[in-house]
Amino acid sequence: MTDRIQAPRGTYDVLPDQAAARAALEAHAREVLEAAGYERIETPVFEHTELFSRGVGESTDVVQKEMYTFSDGGGRSLTLRPEGTAAVCRAYAEHGMHKLAQPVKLWYLGQFFRYERAQAGRYRQFWQVGAEALGSDDPAVDAESILLLATLLGDLGARGVQVRVSSLGRVEARAVYREALQAHLRAHEERLSEEVRARIDLNPLRAFDSDHPGTREVMRDAPLLRDFLEADDAAHFAEVLALLDAADVAYEVDPTLVRGLDYYARTVFEVHSTELGAQSALGGGGRYDGLVAQIGGPPTPGMGWAAGIERILLAGGTPPHAAPPVDLLVAGPAGPLQFKLAVDARHAGLRAQVDLGGRSRKGVLKQANRLHARYVAWMDDDGHAQLKDMDSGEQQEVAVDAIVRDVLRGPGL
Ligand code: HAM
Repeated sequence: MTDRIQAPRGTYDVLPDQAAARAALEAHAREVLEAAGYERIETPVFEHTELFSRGVGESTDVVQKEMYTFSDGGGRSLTLRPEGTAAVCRAYAEHGMHKLAQPVKLWYLGQFFRYERAQAGRYRQFWQVGAEALGSDDPAVDAESILLLATLLGDLGARGVQVRVSSLGRVEARAVYREALQAHLRAHEERLSEEVRARIDLNPLRAFDSDHPGTREVMRDAPLLRDFLEADDAAHFAEVLALLDAADVAYEVDPTLVRGLDYYARTVFEVHSTELGAQSALGGGGRYDGLVAQIGGPPTPGMGWAAGIERILLAGGTPPHAAPPVDLLVAGPAGPLQFKLAVDARHAGLRAQVDLGGRSRKGVLKQANRLHARYVAWMDDDGHAQLKDMDSGEQQEVAVDAIVRDVLRGPGL
């Protein structure tokens, strides 16, 4: 026997019974984000590799280990997008959006790809919904962005939601802090994990992320970035927090918050769910004021987030939904009349289906119950149909061309 081919590790099929929940989630995201003035953008699934190596950062796990990179027939290096922010910034610069009224507020929903260790809540192809606001460094942009994600997750019914916020300051302050942190790590080098030790030069901040016991102990009295913030960064952050308070967003300031991407400056935040295991981040984001310039565009501040669709669903974030009811199920000996009836019913705005299973009369009634169909029309050969009202059980013989006109458009539906 030939081997059965399966989906690649870390990927999954969205089957029809899950598709409805996803569609409802997307509809709700659209409602919340568009009400706040965000407009939809979609960028390509693959981009020049350089966009991510320059934008996301050479030292990140994403760029070092997790990208699906390939060269195309023309010898270009392309990468399946591991995240959406760099591409939105590329599109902003490429289409001259800095000439529009600022900030430009954009949202997206699509597939992303990371070669990660697959486990519950972590996939190699996953979906994100994201929102980016470019062109303003007003703290109100930060607060509104965080509020939108918190609102969306709350509305969707995601359980155990916790918001953590921090500020990284700007690059200059971070350089001073980085040196202080590196000095601390070097002073305790022998107690650190091998991985953290190897990264003292490249990415010392990641030490806060380690679950290695020795490293965790060393990090307990590590210097904290908030003590190194410059006055205007500290004021910016204080204003973000004041606005979150005014909007009644519950949050925790977490000075050890580390994001896995390099482009952040000033505000960063993450939303976790206590309902999820190791992969507890539902979403995260922050300010990336240097990113547009980093990839060759005009200096432009930006702020945004992305959230994982699979994780929102795992945390119970499924809006109530029901399969749309069927108004009419047309069955009986197949033929042009049967088709015509379904087409007429659809033209009249009804939801009609043709029974394509060649079912017996009894089988059709069962199917009608399964679909919650309101009416069943069983076609006779002579241009008539037995029309059954599935609610009342009443049945009448009706001329086929009168069904839509006289019966279904009446008060019953
Ligand atoms: P991120 O934290 O890398 O940020 O990803 C955001 C969310 O995507 C995560 O919190 C998680 O829910 C989901 N996610 C990430 N990787 C996976 C995976 N392998 N499987 C399932 N879900 C996953 C970003 O991507 C930034 N672009 C967010 C941002 C937007 N920052 C500013 N603007």
